[in-house]
Amino acid sequence: MNLTPKEIVEYLDKYVISQKDAKKTIALALRTRYRRMQLSSELQDEIMPKNILMIGSTGVGKTEISRRLAKMMKVPFIKVEASKYTEVGFVGRDVESMVRDLVVNSISIVKAEQEENNQEKIENYVINKIVEKLLPPLPESASESKKDDYQRLLSAMEDKVISGEMDERTIEIEFDKVNIEFNDTNLPPEMAKVQESFSKIFETMSKDEKKKEVTVKDAKSLLKVEAASKLLDMTAINAEALRRAEDGGIIFLDEIDKIAISAKSQGRNDPSKEGVQRDLLPIVEGSSVTTKYGVINTDHILFIAAGAFHLTKPSDLIPELQGRFPLRVELESLTEETLYMILTQTENSLLKQYEALLGVEGMTLVFEDEAIRSIAKLSHRANELTEDIGARRLHTVLEKVLEEISFDADEHSGEEFRITAKLVHDKLDMVVEDDDLSRYIL
Ligand SMILES: Nc1ncnc2c1ncn2[C@@H]1O[C@H](COP(=O)(O)OP(=O)(O)OP(=O)(O)O)[C@@H](O)[C@H]1O
Ligand SMILES: [Mg+2]
Repeated sequence: MNLTPKEIVEYLDKYVISQKDAKKTIALALRTRYRRMQLSSELQDEIMPKNILMIGSTGVGKTEISRRLAKMMKVPFIKVEASKYTEVGFVGRDVESMVRDLVVNSISIVKAEQEENNQEKIENYVINKIVEKLLPPLPESASESKKDDYQRLLSAMEDKVISGEMDERTIEIEFDKVNIEFNDTNLPPEMAKVQESFSKIFETMSKDEKKKEVTVKDAKSLLKVEAASKLLDMTAINAEALRRAEDGGIIFLDEIDKIAISAKSQGRNDPSKEGVQRDLLPIVEGSSVTTKYGVINTDHILFIAAGAFHLTKPSDLIPELQGRFPLRVELESLTEETLYMILTQTENSLLKQYEALLGVEGMTLVFEDEAIRSIAKLSHRANELTEDIGARRLHTVLEKVLEEISFDADEHSGEEFRITAKLVHDKLDMVVEDDDLSRYIL
């Protein structure tokens, strides 16, 4: 992961409009981790990540930024909702499980890499196994000429299996190992161990059940799992994954405002929220968490927290937690112009999505620029008049504009349909300006 901050911002620009500060801060934080990794281990230990708190009202791109980062980054990355955790001792997920989730994510990254590197070996293993089933081996006593014939048959069969010609045939395969992975990270590691031993016991008890009649096609994917577990060194993978999560892992803590306790509504607040905040402290600050795969130290994990803070303020978090998110970035609310740009300049924008969807019905949807301007304008107006729900408003507004067209699309197959400004206003003016109506419809 050695993209420069500029490159990271450039990438994010394709999907998220404006919000420059947030993009820059995050890009810089990521680059800092890369820089740190180039230093001597002594210095590395000294440099702690600066966690980030993103503040911005609903629908302005907080989660979108993280979603896009997750896709782009090759580093262990998970996004979790702070509101789903409960205090230790209460029923529910405890906060340490987010670190375990990160490790699981890291393992899948490293494993995928290894699978990629050993792709040929894995494929050979799979094909051989299947061919073995389709062509029973010759007895040792067979004559030389029979053996030659057999070789020819064998390679012909290999080609057929590879090309997919045999996909529909069924074969019986036995599995060396029941591949039940207990990746429920909610379980504390001790419990996970118990579960594992149980599954081992069942494994030895039920030898027969591991034979299974499947199509060649299914066998290909089933055997791939087996091949990977046989050919890849899982211990090394786990160790590498643990190291990467420790040094480069990022935990995106969404909806952090939901665990803040507002001074105004103390009475109605759930006391365990504060407990969750306290449980978070050691993890964000740096502590050791035991996972099934080993102990991981959280010192260098980067935490990016985000929240709308509509009902609460960052200062409603307990002071110790506030202090652990020293970098603050505010996301701007969306203007009419930003909404217009979100519609026109993002990759896979909503407009493109609708065009593609109706394209399936054979209909060509054309949005006139004037119409897009009007959609942005009316969305912005609706945000002003009722609640500001940011770019999510575009979804409801567009849905309203296209409702009928979308419903009757099958009748207009092969036609071009132009969305004009007049059409947009006809559909929306009444609704937007009528407070009650827009509250229900938009
Ligand atoms: N700045 C933006 N650029 C492009 N698309 C955006 C932007 N802001 C929001 N969107 C779009 O709006 C929708 C909602 O955005 P997102 O999920 O990021 O909101 P959020 O800031 O996390 O809000 P909440 O606080 O409610 O979780 C997404 O479909 C997203 O693509
Ligand atoms: Mg969000």
